[in-house]
Amino acid sequence: MSKKTYFLKQFWSEKKMVGSMIPSSRYLAKKMLQNVDFQKARVIVELGPGTGVFTRKILEQMHEDAKLLVFELNDQFYERLQDEIQDDRLILIHNSAEFIQKFLNDAGFLDADYVISSLPLSNFPKNLRESILKSAHHCLKNDGKFIQFQYSLNCKKILETQFNETDIMFTPLNFPPAFIYTCSK
Ligand SMILES: C[S@@+](CC[C@H](N)C(=O)[O-])C[C@H]1O[C@@H](n2cnc3c(N)ncnc32)[C@H](O)[C@@H]1O
Repeated sequence: MSKKTYFLKQFWSEKKMVGSMIPSSRYLAKKMLQNVDFQKARVIVELGPGTGVFTRKILEQMHEDAKLLVFELNDQFYERLQDEIQDDRLILIHNSAEFIQKFLNDAGFLDADYVISSLPLSNFPKNLRESILKSAHHCLKNDGKFIQFQYSLNCKKILETQFNETDIMFTPLNFPPAFIYTCSK
C-alpha cells in the first residue's frame, strides 16, 4: 500500500489524532528543517512522525553522534516506522508527546536541542494541548527551539504564551498550505 493510501486509511480511523488526509510535502519538510543547526544538534525530538516524511529528512542531515527521539501514538504508524527505518540514532517511542522528559531521561539525556512537531494541536482538547506544549518547553535547552506546523494561525496565541519568541513562515506548497512556527525557549 502506498504511503498516501496508508495515511488516508489512518486518517479515516482516527481523524482528530491524525489531523490530515495525506502526508506533508517535501517542500514543507524542507521549510520545517531549514533553521535546524544539524552540525550542532545532538538531541532532537520529533512529535507525530506519521509515515516519517520529516523523520527521514532529519536522519539524512543529522550528525552521526546525535540521537532522534520520535513519539508516535498511532499503533499502525509506529509499527510501520519500526519496520521501515533502521538507524542506530533513532529511538522510536510508542507513547504520547506529553511524556518527553521521562523518555529523554530514560535514554540518558537531560534536555533537547530541538522539538519538531507535526501534532494537530488545534484538534486536541485544551488540557492535552497545554500539557504537550509544557512538555516540549520544559525539555528544551535554554537556546533550544520548538518547530511546529499548523494549517491555521489558531494556535499562535497559545504558542506565544508558552514560548519567549515566535517566528512564523508560510508555504503554499503543501496540502493544505501550512504555517511553520519556530519558537525560542
Ligand atoms: C498531521 S499528522 C503528521 C504526520 C507527518 N509528520 C507528516 O507531516 O506527514 C499527525 C501525527 O501525530 C500523531 N499523534 C497524534 N497525537 C499524538 C500524541 N499525543 N503523541 C504522539 N503522536 C501523536 C498522529 O498519529 C500522526 O501521526
